[in-house]
This record gives sequence, C-alpha cells and structure tokens, in this order.
Amino acid sequence: MNRADLVVVANRLPVDRDEDGGWRTSPGGLVAALEPVMRRADGAWVGWPGKPDMAVDPFDFDGVHLVPVTLSAQDVAEYYEGFSNDTIWPLYHDVIAAPRYRREWWNTYVEVNRRFADAAVDVAAEGATIWVQDYQLQLVPKMVRERRPDVTIGYFHHIPFPAYGLFSQLPWRKQVVEGLLGADVIGFQRTADASNFARAARRQLRYQTRAGGIHVPNGDGTTRLVIAKSFPISIDASSYIELAQREDVQARAREIRADLGNPEKILLGVDRLDYTKGIRHRMKAFGELLRDGRLSVERATLVQVASPSRERVDAYVQLRDEIELMVGRINGTYDTMEHTAIRYLHQAFPREEMVALYLAADVMLVTSLRDGMNLVAKEYVAARTDNRGVLLLSEFTGAADEMGSAIQVNPHDIEGVKDAIMRAVDMAPSEQGRRMRSLRKRVQEHDVARWSQDFLEALAQARKANAS
Ligand code: G6P
Repeated sequence: MNRADLVVVANRLPVDRDEDGGWRTSPGGLVAALEPVMRRADGAWVGWPGKPDMAVDPFDFDGVHLVPVTLSAQDVAEYYEGFSNDTIWPLYHDVIAAPRYRREWWNTYVEVNRRFADAAVDVAAEGATIWVQDYQLQLVPKMVRERRPDVTIGYFHHIPFPAYGLFSQLPWRKQVVEGLLGADVIGFQRTADASNFARAARRQLRYQTRAGGIHVPNGDGTTRLVIAKSFPISIDASSYIELAQREDVQARAREIRADLGNPEKILLGVDRLDYTKGIRHRMKAFGELLRDGRLSVERATLVQVASPSRERVDAYVQLRDEIELMVGRINGTYDTMEHTAIRYLHQAFPREEMVALYLAADVMLVTSLRDGMNLVAKEYVAARTDNRGVLLLSEFTGAADEMGSAIQVNPHDIEGVKDAIMRAVDMAPSEQGRRMRSLRKRVQEHDVARWSQDFLEALAQARKANAS
C-alpha cells in the first residue's frame, strides 16, 4: 500500500479475531468514530492483535490499512499487564490499588513503545498526521518526533492524569513527561487532567506553561508550543438511539424485566471488572438498603454486568474474589424463590443486549472511584429515547463535568449513595423526564464524531502554526 496521511497508533487494533480465523470490527466507540475519517484519509492503524506471539502481516480491512505489532508472551506480561496495567493504571487512578514499580517492566515498556513508534514512522507518508492513543504508549510521541520532524503528532489520554503529588511517585516521571511532550497536541478528558499534566511539566522540566500551552525548548534558543487541553470523548449516540428504537430490542427489554420476576424497579451496573469502578461500594449500599428494610427484593433487583478484564493481573483476580463473595452473601441472605437481590453476570454482551438492559433499567448506577470519562453513563442516556430512567453518577468521573443533570454522588459516602439510590427509585416521572432530556441533549450534540473532528482540527491548526 501507499504510505498513509493519517496514522492511528493504539495498543489494540480495531479488529478482533473470530473463531474461524477471520477478523471482525471491535465493538468500541473509538473504532466507530475513527473509521469514516480513516477511510477518507487513506488511513493506517498500528496496534496489537490482542494475543501473545501473534505475527500477522499488514492487511486492509474495511478501507483501513492495519499494521499489527507482535508482542511476545513476555512483552504482554511486562509491557501490558505489568507497566501499563499494574504501574500506570493504578497510579493514574489515584492509587486505589497500589502501583508496582519494577525496573524490568519499565525497560520492556520503552522497548515496546519503540516498536509501535517504528511501525508508525514506516507507514506514515511525508507530512502525515500521527495520532497516538492512551497510556500504554506515552513515549511514542517523542520517539516519532526524533525520527520524523515532518509529521504532526497528536496524543489523546483516555484515563485520568493524576495530581502531581501522586504522579511524582513514578521513578520514570521525567521520561514520561518528555515522551508526551513530543506531541503537538496532547488531549485530556477533563481540564483538571490537562492542568495536572502542565504542573508536572513545570515541576519536572521547569518548562513554562501558559493557558493551554507548554513551551518546549528546541535546543537552539527557540521554543515550540505544545497544546495541552481537554477534549472530552463521547459515544456514537445515533447508533444507540437506532438500537433503542428497534422493536426487537424493546421486546427484549420487556422480556428481561419479566425474567427477573417483574420487580418494581431494576437497578443496573455495567463495568469492566475493575477496582476503579466502585462495584463493591454500590453493592454495599444496596445490601444495606435491603438490610434496613428501605428496599426489598420484590421492590428492587440490582443487575450487575461485570465484563472480564485483565484477568492475569493480581489486583483483578483479588477483586473478582471479593465481589463474588459479596454477591453470594447478599443473595444468600435476601433472595427468595421468586426474586434475587443481585443478578451478577461476569460476561460480555453484544450491544443489542446492552441497549435492551439500558431500556429495562429504571436506575443506572455509575459509582467509579476514579474514571477518565465513563462512557456507560453516556450510553445509558443515549438509549433512553423514552426520556425515562435515572442516572446516578460518581463525581469522580470525567462524565460528571458534562452531566450536571445526573444525581451526582461521592461513592465513598455509603450513606450518601444509599440516599441517592432511594431518591432515584422514588423519582417522579416528570423529574426523570426533565433530567433525562437535558442529559440526552448534551450527549447528542457532543458525540464521538465531534470529538475526533475537534481533535483533528486542533492538530491541523498546530500544523499551520508550526509551518509559519
Ligand atoms: C480503558 C483504557 C483503554 C483500554 C480499555 C480496555 O478504557 O483507556 O485504553 O483499551 O480500558 O482495557 P484493555 O486492557 O482490555 O485494553
């Protein structure tokens, strides 16, 4: 293939391998958002196919050129499970779990970042735009810039960027800040993330920062302006709306309610099984409401979908045990032959089933202790074309900045969560409608297509500014 004018670099390719060895598009919203842009721009996507030791030649899929990066079993253990998900992930999520700092993991992270950077450089046309995604690849912007001063480089950080007091724990904090500053535009979910990053650049490198910009010395007395600002990510709202309007999806929602024994209210949690999501906090609150007699299993059932995630990382293994013990205890105490307290599903479901669940759920519980954005909150409101249902949303999510009409909670305050659940359960339809309409407006007007357009426009402006 010809070299590409737009190159996306992400830990994962936008496709998954199915059982018969073919490929199909991954379900994520990022993929849906970038696909049309990539097709138009003759784009290439550099990423890992998702299994160790999978060596696949570059191939075209649905109008996009895919460039697989092979990771050995050791790379997966040290770069992906180790440094990305046992060092950076817990550190950047406010140390909810203890980050582990291992020098061999760092070394492999550097090496694997180099491999992604080299693949991107090789496929990028003269003057191309390279857009790097997320915390697994923080060193790639600088590595690309060193080899290709002709390209424009963007980086988007999908998770929180922590306060300096936490970030400064990282033994390789300086290299990480330098790695990111190789970009022309660094995007964050919230303005607070962007200012945490600017502070780290000031403190670690003594660089000057001004509203939205960091001045990075070129080494010859001149400086280059790096834009660091928020671009809150979103979902492809229209595809959720379409599904929600389908008769078969609506019938499935009614069937789910009947299968659960027609409780008066269905409460729903949907998360990757991750300690950042506050799954235990919400279960504790719900269990206490049953204990106190403020709720009964006839009145309310909690459906908790916890999709399997990072199953070889210790903290995730431990969390699964804790959650399953808790579900067993609560159900053992409160279930009847007809009704269950918590219907727990450690499974992933297709989007149709998720939308049916959203339509069946009277109350959506998002109680993350820290979350870059939380797209589930946005999916739920997009699906509620009937303007019914209540979103209970942790103030520690990126989504909270945009979704002021949700019932916002501090998930650490169990009494506060209990009261908020009762308020949601008892909320009059007129108030549900008022809140839901305002939430839906926001998500429909700020969908993921607008997000990618805004980011790419900022990159185009950076290119112009650098040329002049
Ligand atoms: C978060 C991260 C993504 C990551 C996803 C799933 O949303 O920001 O970069 O892809 O979790 O995690 P996984 O480890 O399965 O890729």
